[in-house]
Amino acid sequence: MINRNTLLSKCETAFEFAGRQLEHLVTTHPDFFPMYTRQGKWKHGGEAWTNWCEGFLGGQLWLMYQHTGQEIWRQRAEHYSRLIEHRKSDRAVHDLGFLFWSTWKRWYDVTGDTAVNQVLIEAGQTLALRFKEKGQYLRSFVADDSLFIDIMMNVGIIFYAAQQTGDDALWRIANQHCLTTRRYLVRGDGSTSHEGLFNTETGAFIRQSTHQGWRDDSSWARGLAWALYGFGTAYYFSRDARFLATAQACAEYYIEQTPDHGVPPNDWAEPNPPYPYESSAAAIAASGLFNLARLTTDPTRAWLYRDYALRILDTLTGPEFLAIDTPGWEGILKHGIYHQRKGLGVDESTMWGDHFFLEAVAKAIKALGETS
Ligand code: GLY
Repeated sequence: MINRNTLLSKCETAFEFAGRQLEHLVTTHPDFFPMYTRQGKWKHGGEAWTNWCEGFLGGQLWLMYQHTGQEIWRQRAEHYSRLIEHRKSDRAVHDLGFLFWSTWKRWYDVTGDTAVNQVLIEAGQTLALRFKEKGQYLRSFVADDSLFIDIMMNVGIIFYAAQQTGDDALWRIANQHCLTTRRYLVRGDGSTSHEGLFNTETGAFIRQSTHQGWRDDSSWARGLAWALYGFGTAYYFSRDARFLATAQACAEYYIEQTPDHGVPPNDWAEPNPPYPYESSAAAIAASGLFNLARLTTDPTRAWLYRDYALRILDTLTGPEFLAIDTPGWEGILKHGIYHQRKGLGVDESTMWGDHFFLEAVAKAIKALGETS
């Protein structure tokens, strides 16, 4: 049973600690965009695999500003957001939602500045250029024939650009991408595949596959967390009940499969995983569950999702996961995994883990305040 006052205090402590870690990062390594730590240090020569993380530092700085109201965080947040503006026309990655929703969207929410909004719209328009008519999906950074579950976290920016501009073609692309992902990457039990491969000549679906999970037919935990959160966002924009049902199925799979502390391994199917935790998946799931608790029309589910999200955060704000008692560790949240097969960022802090952890902690503080 969670003690809500204790959890509130742990969440406040986590924010204060995050402020210290972020201050250290931006003053020690100015204008550097880390991805994952190596033995707790952000700066190292490790491989990136793909460039998808450059919004998560600015995103955390905006979250610090929203939490504290202190001008210094806003200045830093604007600075790190501006540093990635040129990525609005980046056609090499499928991650423009990650980059711009975390940063420029928060900037726009704070200011209502139409020039800021225009950058968001352009990023959404660029992402839509990845759409494959044959197959009806946004292609991953890997190849034309590849659809990733991760793109569900990015497609929201296309819905947004469509809504802002009234462009029906953009709306169709976002909607079709979600329907294709739902059909081929989400299974009947709510588990998800990381990747779908298509015949680029005919558009026919060929098979499920994975890069970061255990097996092609298993469920990589972070991928499932991306789907849980991303289908919730798709429902938020479209109000298409199929997307809410899909998000709920993913949420329920996560809850059924994960130990009571709320933190999954890298993939639920891996026998005796050498590292028992993928904390970034837990942080993403917690934040997505807070969203779903507001989106669902079923009060029992709303209670379950909020309660489970709080349970995850009770674990993540504890000494095993919060790096507060680990001298010299530069990240916020320990025990994340980036790419287990490639040996990148295994049992480390990650920029997205820290970002979604802080986002979820901010939501928990709000939820605990509403119900206390
Ligand atoms: N490439 C996105 C992820 O590792 O989750």
